[in-house]
Amino acid sequence: MKIKIISAIAAIIIMASLQTMAQKTLREATKGKFLFGVAVNMQQVNGINPAESELIAREFSAIVPENVMKPQPIQPEENKFFWDNADKFVALGEKNKQVVTGHCLIWHSQIGRWMFVDAAGKEVSPEVLKERMRQHIAAVVGRYKGRVKGWDVVNEAFEDNGKYRNSKFYQILGKDFIKYAFQFAHEADPDAELYYNDYNVENPAKCDAIVEMVKELRNAGCRIDAVGSQGHMHMKSPTLEATETSLKKLKAAGVKILITEWDISILPSPFDGAEISKNFSYSKEMDPYRDAIPDSVQQKWNKHMLDMFGLFLKYHDVVDRVTLWGLNDAVSWLNNFPIRGRKDYPVLFDRNNQRKSVVEEMIKMAEKTKSKK
Ligand code: XIL
Repeated sequence: MKIKIISAIAAIIIMASLQTMAQKTLREATKGKFLFGVAVNMQQVNGINPAESELIAREFSAIVPENVMKPQPIQPEENKFFWDNADKFVALGEKNKQVVTGHCLIWHSQIGRWMFVDAAGKEVSPEVLKERMRQHIAAVVGRYKGRVKGWDVVNEAFEDNGKYRNSKFYQILGKDFIKYAFQFAHEADPDAELYYNDYNVENPAKCDAIVEMVKELRNAGCRIDAVGSQGHMHMKSPTLEATETSLKKLKAAGVKILITEWDISILPSPFDGAEISKNFSYSKEMDPYRDAIPDSVQQKWNKHMLDMFGLFLKYHDVVDRVTLWGLNDAVSWLNNFPIRGRKDYPVLFDRNNQRKSVVEEMIKMAEKTKSKK
């Protein structure tokens, strides 16, 4: 009896793993169309959960670090660099034969305050800030020269209305800080691709401002390969139409497009942005799906996801990469943003690392799309 049960269990396990092996993956299905990426956290880089490691390697052709290459984590104090995590991250991509991109060199968030002040706490001059930017970019890009395909050089320089964000970089250097960042990155690794990255790129005023900035950079002789549209989406926004319009505008501007941080929150949202300093207080009404998601809501989310993915495929001649911001629902930053402690379901794998049904549909869609590249 015991032996029978054991062999039945063994047969089930073997069948399940054969099925997994035979299963088509998103990595394969998107090949020749665009890179299909995921943001990874340090637990994943360290391989704490084997199921997550397996999934990252199997389903994705590209990785980006969720936090460890940002200005503050990598240079917490002037000239004190912390490389361990970023080194391990790059090594993981190489082990998995994945394309590795860097995020991000110049950003107003997650940056050490030291960057903008002198020893006495006084704001630094434009020359000093420019030189600190150069040193930071030269060190980070230089260290991974030839191993990182491209960099988010500047992140989130615009407001949603298309005005320049009034960041410390902008206050001290004006809009030229963007140009300097691209120049320094190119000097540090002439072969690396260089990207501008932002959220709400679907917003017409913001998209127009980005297109204008691309033109200005090119007129100044700077290299810029692509615009990264973060793609932090909600159930009602952006619309498919607004998203397509933004893709068309970027395509017309002659840059490649990357969807760099894709997720679709299923929860009600107090606002539409991804400005990480924003925080709202918790309430039960804003966290309605702690136990389960009603079928109608799940169907709506699936449709939104598939419609968007279909759009990215439609533009795959210019969309070079689509990256999910988080491997599974459990690790998604949206459980804590813009309200802490909620339960969101914004990405492709569930809290048990199981594929959502939408994945099979996405694979079918990608396989039906002819490669143009
Ligand atoms: C987020 C990370 O996911 C969080 O872990 C961190 O606490 C805050 O930053 N736009 C970006 C990303 O460019 O770097 C942000 O990532 C999400 C919004």
